[in-house]
Amino acid sequence: MSQHERFKFKDKEALLRKAEELNINLPFSETIEILFDKIEINGKTVPNRFAVHPMEGFDADANGTPGELCFRRYKRYASGGSGLIWFEATAVIPEGRSNPRQLWIHKENVYVFKQLVDETREAARQNFSNNFDLTLILQLTHSGRYSKQSGKPAPIIAHHSEILDPKHKLPADYPLITDQELDELQEKFVEAALLAEEAGFDGVGIKACHGYLVSELLASFTREDSKYGSSFENRTRFLQETAKQIKNNVKNVFVTSRLNGYDAIKYPYGFGVSADDYLKPDLAETKKLIKELIKIDYPILNLSIGNPYLKPHFCRPFDFPLAGFEPPNEHPLQGVARIIEITGELQKEFPKLPVIGTGYSWLRHFFPNVAAAVVNQGKATLIGQGRGAFAYPDSVKDLQEKGAMDAHKVCVTCSACSQIMRDDGRTGCIIRDKEIYGAEYRKVRKRAAGKNQ
Ligand SMILES: Cc1cc2nc3c(=O)[nH]c(=O)nc-3n(C[C@H](O)[C@H](O)[C@H](O)COP(=O)(O)O)c2cc1C
Repeated sequence: MSQHERFKFKDKEALLRKAEELNINLPFSETIEILFDKIEINGKTVPNRFAVHPMEGFDADANGTPGELCFRRYKRYASGGSGLIWFEATAVIPEGRSNPRQLWIHKENVYVFKQLVDETREAARQNFSNNFDLTLILQLTHSGRYSKQSGKPAPIIAHHSEILDPKHKLPADYPLITDQELDELQEKFVEAALLAEEAGFDGVGIKACHGYLVSELLASFTREDSKYGSSFENRTRFLQETAKQIKNNVKNVFVTSRLNGYDAIKYPYGFGVSADDYLKPDLAETKKLIKELIKIDYPILNLSIGNPYLKPHFCRPFDFPLAGFEPPNEHPLQGVARIIEITGELQKEFPKLPVIGTGYSWLRHFFPNVAAAVVNQGKATLIGQGRGAFAYPDSVKDLQEKGAMDAHKVCVTCSACSQIMRDDGRTGCIIRDKEIYGAEYRKVRKRAAGKNQ
């Protein structure tokens, strides 16, 4: 592995030199037109290949209802030019919230989600044209091990993990979520999908990444005497059955997922990992699962990797680590290349399934050049921005109108948005949106530092 370094590239030559030095074959294209090609998803035309990834703002009220900052966030994205917006993790039951301010969709607040959808669509039409029709997907989640609905960790786990249990100091007899509870939870996902349909979303994405409940189930090799553990069929049962139920019962939204292709957690506690060396992916099961998801008619798939609580550099390469973390033993460009390669292998296996790539924000204003080359090479079909969308929601508009992104508006991967999230604040970009989030960062950092004394 190589030394961690901050982004310091004055021009593309310097970036490409670093890639060569690190022995990385970084896709890079001078022209980015391909990113403005339309694409058909589930019979609807997405106006370009740019997506906004799900990014929690943690600014809902106690009932999970989207508030002012949430409306502001999505309207900014919609005015910013990306053709597809994957809305942030939204709990299907209150116990499954990762934070007391996480969105939670239910009968009493569905009308607010509907307003949010309507205003988001309208913002795009006003900024572009009446034909600019966004594809909107709501991410449905249960936070599992990372549930924290009252502000205190209240883990709901699918299996015991030698790696993860110690993080929450869980005793060996800490109870697992039961099969019956999982059966009932399937119904809750379907109910939430029906509400998402009522709110006017185009699709729902069952969150199956980053170690949350459905993701943890995929890796429940050691869960015994359970129809949700051990074999591939059992471990993938929750995702497959829930997706099928949504498909069969909710007619006007499509079902999809954000899926971890590779957990980067030691076998038998991680999905998509090599049994001999968890630092290497083994995508055989991931491919087997995607094949099944295609049979359920997934019209698109969002791919990610890793667990942000354990090794955040796998899922979101950064310049500065979170408090309490050391910089990793690798160059962030290696992290970017890893996600591109894994996504590429899966996209190549299923060339007809549009896959959204992840992990591009560290590339700053070079992201479109890398993204265009990735799409050209058939390693992804759309490219999403996560932290980049917090920092620079109108980057796509700038690309379209000015031909380039403004290097002074990009995300600098400082990890402060993640830090606010860990410190239980309302999150966003403290550098490019500092009037709101600078103060929030200082407030919650101080509070967290006080708690740790
Ligand atoms: C503050 C914050 C909130 C996030 N919320 C979600 C979420 O709701 N759902 C999800 O699947 N990923 C979430 N992620 C992960 C991002 O969607 C994305 O995968 C990650 O930041 C890497 O992409 P990027 O390099 O473009 O930022 C979040 C990340 C951050 C930093």
